[in-house]
Amino acid sequence: MRATAAVLLVHCLLAISHAWDCQTVVDIYNLMQIDAGLGQVVATNTSQIPYYMVGDKWIPLPGSLKHITIGPAGIWGVNSGNIIFKYVAGNWHQYATKVKQVDAGGAGFIVGATMEYSPFCLGSSETLGFKDTDAGHTAIRLAGSMEYLSCGPFGCWAVNNNDEIFLMSNVNKDTCQNKGWSHIDGKLSMIEVATDGSVFGVNSDGQVYTRDGITASKPEGTGWSIVPMYIPMTHVTYDLGRLWVVSKSGLTMVCKR
Ligand SMILES: *[C@@H]1O[C@H](CO)[C@@H](O)[C@H](O)[C@H]1NC(C)=O
Repeated sequence: MRATAAVLLVHCLLAISHAWDCQTVVDIYNLMQIDAGLGQVVATNTSQIPYYMVGDKWIPLPGSLKHITIGPAGIWGVNSGNIIFKYVAGNWHQYATKVKQVDAGGAGFIVGATMEYSPFCLGSSETLGFKDTDAGHTAIRLAGSMEYLSCGPFGCWAVNNNDEIFLMSNVNKDTCQNKGWSHIDGKLSMIEVATDGSVFGVNSDGQVYTRDGITASKPEGTGWSIVPMYIPMTHVTYDLGRLWVVSKSGLTMVCKR
């Protein structure tokens, strides 16, 4: 009994010292999804308008997208026709079809999932050299079945359509060569890796979690900690000390420790 009480007390102290202070973002409404990386923030709203944040203003980008991502490989998006695009000189250039989600957080390469939950990777020489539709690009099919993928400096994290979590470390940025997925404990419906390697996700109940203890030599970290939120969330992204969360009710908040 005494041991249980001590454990509970430690959990409470941890929760307090790790508290996040959240403010509602008042300049943008009805976001569907948001991605922060390399100091920049992009988002889509529920009318599929893509946005780029400049100062405290949200600038609409051209076109219509249901998912947008920013990272070392540039700005990429997916539209309602499941076509993947790269943002090149102010316009969207088509890359491939039948894609559901894409992430540009890896070291110059991109990963994503097709409509049939096939995970894929496109090496940095192809993403960084991307110019237009005509060049013959070859995506590498990754193992397994995944619904949402995100990469950072220590590897790629993914969830499948059963909310199971996986990690692929040591992905070669040029060839996408890797050692396969390792299963990670817990259940999440989306997951995002930050430029600094931190990992955040949301479960089907709308609770936000972060992975503790991630380092280059221990990319899987040590365990999940809950990030307390007062309302259920659908989407999360983190960069440079700012945790961006979108609630099920359509509010966007930015939180700092
Ligand atoms: C999405 O953004 C566009 C452009 O600013 C705006 O006209 C539209 O009302 C927004 N959609 C929602 C649901 O807020």
